[in-house]
Amino acid sequence: MTEQNIRIAIVGATGAVGTVALQLLKDRDWPAENIVAMASYRSVGKEIPYGDSVLTVVEATPDAFDGINVAFISADSSVSKALAPEVVSRGGLVIDDGSAYRMEPNVPLVVPEVNGADVEWHEGIISIPNCTTTPLAMALAALQAESPLTRVTVATYQAVTGTGASALQELKDQSAAIANGNEVSVEVYPHQIAMNVLPQVDDFQPDGYTNEEHKMINETRKILHLPDLPISVTCVRVPVPVGHSEAVHAEFANPISAERARELLGNFPGVRVVDVPNASVYPMPHTSAGLDEVQVGRIREDLSHESGISFWLSCDNLRKGAALNALQIMDEVVTRNRLPGAAATA
Ligand SMILES: NC(=O)c1ccc[n+]([C@@H]2O[C@H](COP(=O)([O-])OP(=O)(O)OC[C@H]3O[C@@H](n4cnc5c(N)ncnc54)[C@H](OP(=O)(O)O)[C@@H]3O)[C@@H](O)[C@H]2O)c1
Repeated sequence: MTEQNIRIAIVGATGAVGTVALQLLKDRDWPAENIVAMASYRSVGKEIPYGDSVLTVVEATPDAFDGINVAFISADSSVSKALAPEVVSRGGLVIDDGSAYRMEPNVPLVVPEVNGADVEWHEGIISIPNCTTTPLAMALAALQAESPLTRVTVATYQAVTGTGASALQELKDQSAAIANGNEVSVEVYPHQIAMNVLPQVDDFQPDGYTNEEHKMINETRKILHLPDLPISVTCVRVPVPVGHSEAVHAEFANPISAERARELLGNFPGVRVVDVPNASVYPMPHTSAGLDEVQVGRIREDLSHESGISFWLSCDNLRKGAALNALQIMDEVVTRNRLPGAAATA
């Protein structure tokens, strides 16, 4: 089977991630006849322009997956839980964007540049990480090639599209209301997000950390194969449309110079060093949105720790944070001949 003969379902085709997944497939000239756009019953019949064609949305029911080779599921966890087994039982591969399966021991959690070989042991479902975990894992993997990681501290600055299309609309509506002197209505987040910053992403657990913070800790450990890595995370939502940023402080067994860190990061696939501080050149969500690479800058030795490196990164949460990583996982599976039924159809 050549790659473009693979029949793909995009579940969540009307959402923030699904929309970008379709753009990326279009950029690859993926034939429209090998894409099925799926969403909830609410979107049935909706037409999504796709190059010279139009994709008509169908409901993501179990039978809709007959003949599908790869299903990208970008909806919420309950949808993944209900539909993923149906795809697998029909001989398809699930690449799941949500958190439903990420920490299951028999489900690989993959960033191809870091742990692509983990796709080898999939049993029908592969998860992609949270959109804040992916760029962090890439930068840490680049640096730990030089010296073992001993501790990581991170603060995130997360765009509203990390929540989905409805949060982007809320940011726009609130911004317009403020500009026009009107009352702001709050629905998606616990507080107004326009002209504000929320030190809360997802719900709190009894230990005072949020679910998002726990996801980042657990997922980073799983991807890096470092189950005991000490990580402290504070996740913050900022009024940015697209592009997550992170302030990272990483400690290592042995010192790494800033110059060497810049070299390691610059040589890592999918990472671009953007670091000319005196010219005010550094990663920003505004300039990373729409790009595939994770941008890393403000790379410096940590003045408070002899083996510490501090840096700042920005990454398009809908591309490398979600849809692009998912497509790259499919590429990795195909390259390694691990597509279900591949041997029979090759
Ligand atoms: N946004 C990010 O940066 C990001 C990054 C990594 C992972 N993710 C994960 O990706 C998933 C989707 O996120 P998003 O930002 O794209 O959300 P979104 O913009 O809210 O879109 C949700 C999508 O799910 C569909 N959906 C809802 N119920 C469904 C059902 N019962 N069956 C089939 N489809 C259904 C919706 O279709 P309708 O239009 O018909 O309701 C819509 O297409 C989430 O699990 C999220 O955690 C997101």
